[in-house]
Amino acid sequence: MASVIVVGTQWGDEGKGKIVDLLTQYADLVVRFQGGNNAGHTLVVDGEKFVFHLIPSGILYEDKLCLIGNGVVLDPAILIDELEHLASRGRKVSPNQLKISFNTHLIMPYHKALDHASEAAKSEGKKIGTTGRGIGPCYRDKVGRNGIKVADLFDQELFKEKLSENVKEKNFLLTNLLGVEPLDEAEIYDQFQVYAEALEPYAGNVSVMIDEAQKAGKNVLFEGAQGTQLDIDHGTYPFVTSSNTVAGGACCGAGIGPSKIDYVIGICKAYTTRVGAGPFPTELSDATGDHLQQKGGEFGATTGRKRRCGWLDGVVLRDAVRINGLDGLVITKLDVMSGLDPVKICTSYEVDGSIFETMPANIRQVEAVKPIYEEVSGWEEDISTCSSFEELPKAAQDYVKAIEDFAQVPLAILSVGPGREQTILLKNPFK
Ligand code: GDP
Ligand code: IMO
Ligand code: MG
Repeated sequence: MASVIVVGTQWGDEGKGKIVDLLTQYADLVVRFQGGNNAGHTLVVDGEKFVFHLIPSGILYEDKLCLIGNGVVLDPAILIDELEHLASRGRKVSPNQLKISFNTHLIMPYHKALDHASEAAKSEGKKIGTTGRGIGPCYRDKVGRNGIKVADLFDQELFKEKLSENVKEKNFLLTNLLGVEPLDEAEIYDQFQVYAEALEPYAGNVSVMIDEAQKAGKNVLFEGAQGTQLDIDHGTYPFVTSSNTVAGGACCGAGIGPSKIDYVIGICKAYTTRVGAGPFPTELSDATGDHLQQKGGEFGATTGRKRRCGWLDGVVLRDAVRINGLDGLVITKLDVMSGLDPVKICTSYEVDGSIFETMPANIRQVEAVKPIYEEVSGWEEDISTCSSFEELPKAAQDYVKAIEDFAQVPLAILSVGPGREQTILLKNPFK
């Protein structure tokens, strides 16, 4: 039995969904532990594409249990949409397949309204470029102890009381501070009664479910969302999301102890992307950036925005290895690098004559860093059908080895295309 955490090592969209789907064949439970429907996790199975925002990426295996932990923020409308969408594709999800923690906080309509209005009110340069899904305002209420949890949906009196206090406060902010229309409390109340009925069969004690599974010797896979540099504590603050995206977040966000984790796997795209605002030291605004964006199909899976692209950033990777305690590395989208020569890896930053081996804490310094690069040879060949490491061109092997050496973490999986089968499994974290 083993418990394995999958996290993103960069600014999200590293290919976590694909890898979680792949590893689910060895797992019994798949658990989301933070974030919400700001995430967009893409799976391509037998040529069919699925994008999951809230439902764990293990849901295509009907005999596995998918869990949404307390650390997630949940928009009931989105969850219901995802369930209906899956059903319309012949993949009806029964409540035996999916459980949501009673302690999961709900994204309310006023969270989305606040997210939109506060982004709109920010001046250029201060906008975070959020996904507009209400993530920040919902976590703010949770930490401020005003949040509404899944459990509250099933106590009408408690729900009404909390809703009423919140709508009063939020309408004040929306109208007086942000200059937008107020929301209607009765409408929200009625809508959430419908959601309560739809969600009740799925609600449960997720912490207990994981504990029982671990005691029964089952394998548990934790699915991170976003990436290390978007972590609220460890990322490029304030251009981050509002949760702990790093491996430590899995324990708090699912309700298990750190001694119950066996292996942490970090997903690293073979280059770097970022969607939304904020500093990006290795960003390329040239033909190479265009190559990565176009060949990599780099459009946000949630918002459809063009992703910014650049060379692999070793400073970011080094931070991710340390902060997440990585045991194994997954390199994705190596196929996208075919046709680039030479290939660069950023190994450190220079700011005002000082060398940085880790991300500076001061955002002004992050904005000012100059990446220092190491060059390696590129390759021309299409590698998307390679099924072993040895089949890769020598230069591609060397690039992977350079990343592995740099990270000082062994390579576990290599991904050479979006399909489940376009994967080279070198080390199974469950074995
Ligand atoms: P996530 O948020 O980390 O799950 O990643 P996204 O799904 O947002 O973005 C990753 C994109 O790359 C998706 O469109 C995947 O289908 C695709 N993808 C994943 N791995 C590979 C790969 O090795 N090669 C290529 N070409 N595409 C990949
Ligand atoms: P997955 O799980 C990439 C980014 C947004 C924005 C910042 C804050 O698919 O990798 P938020 O709506 O969370 O308050 O936005 O974080 N962001 C992501 N970028 N992948 C994601 O998720 C992201 N989730 C949030 O673009 O810059
Ligand atoms: Mg994504």
